[in-house]
Amino acid sequence: MNVVLIPFFLAASVIVNDTSKWTFGPKYSYDLNMTYIMKTDPQEPVETMTLISELKCRPKAADNLFCHLQNSTIVNIGKNRNTTREVETEQMFEIKFNERGVEGLIIEPPSRMEVVNILRKIANQFNVGVDWRKIERISQAGEWQFMARENSSMGNCATVYKITREELKTNTVEEEHIDFRLIVLPMIDDAISNLSIEKSRIACINPPRYVDFSSGILKMGRFVSKIQINNRFEVSTEFDGKVRPPLSIDSMNRMLSFKEIMQLNLKSIEPAQDELPSIFYGELIDLNINTDIPSNFIN
Ligand SMILES: *[C@@H]1O[C@H](CO)[C@@H](O)[C@H](O)[C@H]1NC(C)=O
Ligand SMILES: *[C@@H]1O[C@H](CO)[C@@H](O)[C@H](O)[C@H]1NC(C)=O
Ligand SMILES: *[C@@H]1O[C@H](CO)[C@@H](O)[C@H](O)[C@H]1NC(C)=O
Ligand SMILES: *[C@@H]1O[C@H](CO)[C@@H](O)[C@H](O)[C@H]1NC(C)=O
Ligand SMILES: *[C@@H]1O[C@H](CO)[C@@H](O)[C@H](O)[C@H]1NC(C)=O
Ligand SMILES: *[C@@H]1O[C@H](CO)[C@@H](O)[C@H](O)[C@H]1NC(C)=O
Repeated sequence: MNVVLIPFFLAASVIVNDTSKWTFGPKYSYDLNMTYIMKTDPQEPVETMTLISELKCRPKAADNLFCHLQNSTIVNIGKNRNTTREVETEQMFEIKFNERGVEGLIIEPPSRMEVVNILRKIANQFNVGVDWRKIERISQAGEWQFMARENSSMGNCATVYKITREELKTNTVEEEHIDFRLIVLPMIDDAISNLSIEKSRIACINPPRYVDFSSGILKMGRFVSKIQINNRFEVSTEFDGKVRPPLSIDSMNRMLSFKEIMQLNLKSIEPAQDELPSIFYGELIDLNINTDIPSNFIN
């Protein structure tokens, strides 16, 4: 059975023994790790925060995924004490796609702004954001580089794309007991391959002004992502900057180095257990963290 993992871009062929279990369609589970690190220059860590969560998504329409976060935990490692707490992130949302990638998010009111921004960053992980005429060249093995502008969660950026496609080294489908096979839709042939899309962004217009969960003022630096597709689907993003923290974090008001690392890995494709829920009062918002959302949508 073929299912759409990322509209217009990635499908999966799933081994199904009993089709009656799949009446509600597939459910995709991803492991999510977002880590924020603040350091003084040169190297003394001031604070590290990690959000660990499970992202669950289901295809809703040809251009739409229905998702929510489950079992979210925040681990804070501070200078004086460490804390772990569970956080409420059960909010449902939809990611809307077009041929270029992610068009926006549909969220339900009322939403907490910090959760909305995390959802924007998560949706950005699914954003391929490449002109398909260029990506069609991935049907041959090789490496291509080109530059284009991309609308991302961190603004509209000049982005250098590096796309590589090579043969899969081994038949890991059997070795790893994975019960699905990924299919990159723009590829004409059907060969299993090892594809990576790296994006390095500079000169972003309208970047975020603040750091999540903090009122520190941000000066954006490097923003790179890597989408890796072989038998697995993994996306990682690294974002660097300088931040002037609030006085409560650093009493000397020094500029700190800031790094945000995000990792999203596909863990499983399983049959969904129930009817797809609906978002009744949803509103389409764009990915950019700096774009305001209707005030009746914020809590
Ligand atoms: C499908 O059936 C095969 C052979 O009986 C079995 O090895 C495999 O684990 C089954 N897969 C699933 C997903 O149930
Ligand atoms: C989350 O990511 C950070 C940074 O890459 C890493 O140090 C940490 O071990 C990861 N945590 C988990 C639970 O995967
Ligand atoms: C994750 O959340 C689900 C439903 O909210 C709950 O049933 C399950 O026990 C949780 N799992 C863990 C590991 O906390
Ligand atoms: C906090 O956790 C880190 C990493 O797990 C550990 O090295 C450190 O000693 C802990 N600090 C305190 C105050 O418990
Ligand atoms: C980025 O967004 C702007 C405004 O929403 C739109 O006009 C433009 O076409 C988008 N660019 C890309 C590359 O998607
Ligand atoms: C895919 O390519 C990456 C780097 O190009 C390599 O590190 C990895 O081992 C390859 N994976 C497989 C399964 O061939």
